[in-house]
Amino acid sequence: MKNAAVIGAGTIGLSWTALFASHGLTVRVTDPRPDLAEAVESALKTFAPHLGTTAEDLTSRVHLAQDVTESVKEADVVQENGPENVEFKKDLFAKLVEEVPEDALLLSSSSAIPSTAFTEGIDGRRVLIGHPFNPPHLIPLVEVVPGEQTSEEAVTRAVEFYAALGRTPVVERKEMPGFVGNRLQNALSREAIYLVEQGVVTPEELDKVITNSLGIRWATVGPFLGSHLGGGPGGYRHMAEHIGKSMKKMWAGLGTPSQSPEEQERLIEAVEQAYGSSTYSDLAETRDRKQLAVLHAVEEN
Ligand SMILES: NC(=O)c1ccc[n+]([C@@H]2O[C@H](COP(=O)([O-])OP(=O)(O)OC[C@H]3O[C@@H](n4cnc5c(N)ncnc54)[C@H](O)[C@@H]3O)[C@@H](O)[C@H]2O)c1
Repeated sequence: MKNAAVIGAGTIGLSWTALFASHGLTVRVTDPRPDLAEAVESALKTFAPHLGTTAEDLTSRVHLAQDVTESVKEADVVQENGPENVEFKKDLFAKLVEEVPEDALLLSSSSAIPSTAFTEGIDGRRVLIGHPFNPPHLIPLVEVVPGEQTSEEAVTRAVEFYAALGRTPVVERKEMPGFVGNRLQNALSREAIYLVEQGVVTPEELDKVITNSLGIRWATVGPFLGSHLGGGPGGYRHMAEHIGKSMKKMWAGLGTPSQSPEEQERLIEAVEQAYGSSTYSDLAETRDRKQLAVLHAVEEN
């Protein structure tokens, strides 16, 4: 892969752009946003130090394209990061399969829409999901999710592509809305919102519970290995037959937040009260610095 097209340069597309360029790919970026040049320049400046390089080095390989046609004309790989809207993705992929070079791989960052939903009636053999976690130049996971038409060869090429970028691709065997990562995230978010709605904790206190417990644990062991160790020398079997039984009883009592317009407004105000006095760039800078430290610590151990 030498030439990449990035379609949609918002939060996710800008981060992919920096990652691709840092691995030597030539990147052609397109987005109708009027401030595209400034957004790309600012992102490359911010992300270059995370990637151990300079903004000048990244900039030398990143080009702005007038439109989709121009961005994909020499592409070996396309990463789509436009709006999370099935009609948008249908129209775009119908155009892409006609316009990209014959063997180009077509990847969508979609968070929840499976590719089968937007490839009906077109040739979808080279189309699949490559769903990252924000920001993709730092968080290693990419969920690789083939659609009904996707070829085995396209899946293998997508896995090789993301692995070559230092990512951790995981292929998923069924198309579930939200895939795996966002289903897990939403299961936790649902309970988090419920607990705040019930007045058990504030948003800031809820965040403190996570960053001082599950967040630290989950950077080192996933939920299954965590439970295997939680069972002591008896392992997962002991955990399942012992504490697991009472945990299962708790499932029935997990909450569903009301999220009425009033409750939603109350929650937004509470989050803004907790974090609204800091700017987006300050909060993102602190998050990225800490995430890099965690990544390095995990890699070294
Ligand atoms: N934000 C996240 O945490 C996250 C994480 C993983 C995946 N995703 C997925 O990535 C995709 C992009 O999400 P985002 O958060 O970067 O959104 P975003 O709103 O920040 O960016 C979307 C960009 O698409 C652009 N766009 C609109 N029409 C376009 C067109 N015709 N051609 C090219 N670009 C166009 C917009 O101008 C905007 O800059 C979505 O499918 C989303 O589900 C988001």
